Amino acid sequence: MSQLSPLEAQLVKRRTFAIISHPDAGKTTLTEKLLLFGGAIQMAGTVKGRKAARHATSDWMELEKQRGISVTSSVMQFPYGEAIVNLLDTPGHEDFSEDTYRTLTAVDAALMVIDVAKGVEERTIKLMDVCRLRNTPILTFVNKLDREGRDAIEILDEIESVLKIQCAPVTWPIGMGKRFKGVYDLRHDRTHLFSATHGGRIQEGEVIDGLDNPRLDEIVGDQAQELRDELELVQGASHDFDHADYLAGIQTPVFFGSAINNFGVKELLDAFVDYAPAPLSRQTRSRLVEPQESAFSGFVFKIQANMDPAHRDRVAFLRVCSGSYKKGMKMRHVRIGKAVQVANAITFQADERRHVEEAWPGDIIGLHNHGTIQIGDTFTEGEDLKYEGIPYFAPELFRRVVLKDPLKMKALQKGVLQLCEEGATQVFRPRKNNDLILGAVGILQFDVAAYRLRDEYGVEAVVEPVSVALARWVRCEDPKMLARFEEKAYENLAVDGDDQLVYLAPTRVNLQLTQERWPEIDFLATREL
Ligand code: G4P
Repeated sequence: MSQLSPLEAQLVKRRTFAIISHPDAGKTTLTEKLLLFGGAIQMAGTVKGRKAARHATSDWMELEKQRGISVTSSVMQFPYGEAIVNLLDTPGHEDFSEDTYRTLTAVDAALMVIDVAKGVEERTIKLMDVCRLRNTPILTFVNKLDREGRDAIEILDEIESVLKIQCAPVTWPIGMGKRFKGVYDLRHDRTHLFSATHGGRIQEGEVIDGLDNPRLDEIVGDQAQELRDELELVQGASHDFDHADYLAGIQTPVFFGSAINNFGVKELLDAFVDYAPAPLSRQTRSRLVEPQESAFSGFVFKIQANMDPAHRDRVAFLRVCSGSYKKGMKMRHVRIGKAVQVANAITFQADERRHVEEAWPGDIIGLHNHGTIQIGDTFTEGEDLKYEGIPYFAPELFRRVVLKDPLKMKALQKGVLQLCEEGATQVFRPRKNNDLILGAVGILQFDVAAYRLRDEYGVEAVVEPVSVALARWVRCEDPKMLARFEEKAYENLAVDGDDQLVYLAPTRVNLQLTQERWPEIDFLATREL
């Protein structure tokens, strides 16, 4: 066997992923347990802390606290066996924002958590749509089996029909709620018996080899035969695991367990490390970049403002795509055509921010940013590359910004445009009036925007409801058709921060009707940066 280069050796170990779920399905709990298995135990406390602060209010102290904490846990790197795992946090409660979506463009795999009682929920559907933009491979964890929930087969059916992805069960639950006895691991033909362990320790329950082992009947009684019958049924009705289909995003391997009890989590993590892809090649405008190329390159997928309130510091999160980052190296900031020396990038290992000496493809580094870096920016060792696939997502919430002091209009416009460059909110200027309409995918973004306008730009403004429900970017090949549309739809047209044409629909029905009336016009829910 040929020797791996240092870069290749790092590459094969890396697994970079995010968790997608609806709030309360158990993402935070599962994250803690994953970190526990990865040996980063203190981190677990921090994640919990973030959760404690999740009940957002408009109170700025709360906002600050919440953001401060969520930053330290926004990227978590931990070793697991031979692997180095990068878990990118996807803000999910009131801190849900476009960052959540964009983070999914920076991972190579995702883990979907489903609450066994609730099944597929709305937020999960949206996040799945984003994963589908890049056919991201997805592992599924059905959580809270220690509680009464829905039938496992029914959950699989729902995932298949609602999320349009094939399910391949890898573990199967024995009972549920009070009758929950454990999971049978189809991969290794063995049963893991359940014992409730709410604490932070890793406990191994009894493992019984073989489905026909009499010990199984001895311990779980009639449920052993129920399990065998169910498995027969399931194996007839569902799909066998196929690694290629998983990697193509066509099939999701499914695991059952209880995150809070550390149960089923190890099987999940083991399979994740086995199945999930190492850092993948990525498309730029000019060519495909392979991770094992020796020249460094990467792109910025998120900018976190005010990490340290005392310093008004902003950090740009960059995903390394090829080559390696070495402390002190020179990088080319492609959009502005300048070389920058990066001596103090940060990484987010365990529970502390540390300065990294080096980073490899799949890793995330934080670059200090004084306003020059934008989301979507590419950094290289010299080549003029531009990474693709970091889109703007159509916002789902809209507010009109109203100035308290009308003389501050200039300052407001400047502030709003700059905040929008950071990518947390988007701005729309209707053709029919001088309104400034903010759009976001998370409600907290409006409070953050109002606060920062006051704090950083000296503009007193409030946000108020506006009758816009959806926004779609308008595209049309035929200039004549487009002109006709622009005339007819004048009332609903606006431009975004980059002067791109946008249709603002007051209702979903309005959008539907407009789409039916104008079949030649494309109404896009995402736009490339
Ligand atoms: P999230 O990050 O996806 O929003 O979910 P989180 O982990 O915060 O979990 C939401 C709630 O579900 C929490 O309860 C958590 O304890 C509970 N939970 C997570 N995993 C399991 C599980 O396997 N079984 C059961 N029965 N519950 C689970 P909470 O009451 O909101 O918070 P707490 O008071 O328990 O901390």
